[in-house]
Amino acid sequence: MQRTPLIAYANVRKSFPGPAGAVAAVDDVSLEIAEGEFLAIVGGSGSGKTTLLRLTNRLIDADSGTIRIAGDDIGGLEPVGLRRRIGTVFQNGALFPHMTVAANIGITPRLLGTPPAEIASRVDELLDLVQLDRTVHRDRLPHELSGGQRRRGASACRQPTDRADGRAVRRARSLDARCARQRLPRPA
Ligand SMILES: Nc1ncnc2c1ncn2[C@@H]1O[C@H](COP(=O)(O)OP(=O)(O)O)[C@@H](O)[C@H]1O
Ligand SMILES: [Mg+2]
Repeated sequence: MQRTPLIAYANVRKSFPGPAGAVAAVDDVSLEIAEGEFLAIVGGSGSGKTTLLRLTNRLIDADSGTIRIAGDDIGGLEPVGLRRRIGTVFQNGALFPHMTVAANIGITPRLLGTPPAEIASRVDELLDLVQLDRTVHRDRLPHELSGGQRRRGASACRQPTDRADGRAVRRARSLDARCARQRLPRPA
């Protein structure tokens, strides 16, 4: 039996108004991504990569076509809940500057109401995963880390925090090379 793709785009289109009429940023994209698959979307500046990602978490809505996450049409999902299921690693490795590494990693499970002891053990697992020493880095602020350590911390923040769900979209443009080479295991 064929498994439901984790993300499925079907005939997705999005245009923006331009001085000479509408410009198609995403033009009839159909694409399926399986759970655990690692996919890079490559293209020149202005070719629609960011628009496709923004459509996926409903920062913007498509003009036509459908996007499904684990079989659910995102058009029928509440946008904030949808975004909590999708991890995004920003190019500059965004971490909240006033919060420790552990607090940054624990944000989403805290918003989801996960018990503190469970958050603490998941934070330790994720620090190990991205090879940040728990004893050294757990309670540091982002400015106390190197650039590569900050990116790894940001990558840990965007891993699935709910073991039962375990779905994530990873935007890996600027992951630390070590993380990018390593195949990140799915949570058990
Ligand atoms: N909010 C917007 N309003 C108008 N045009 C936009 C908007 N967002 C993106 N575009 C245009 O859509 C096209 C694709 O942009 P984008 O998806 O950001 O490209 P990429 O990420 O591949 O560099 C570009 O021509 C860009 O100028
Ligand atoms: Mg872009």
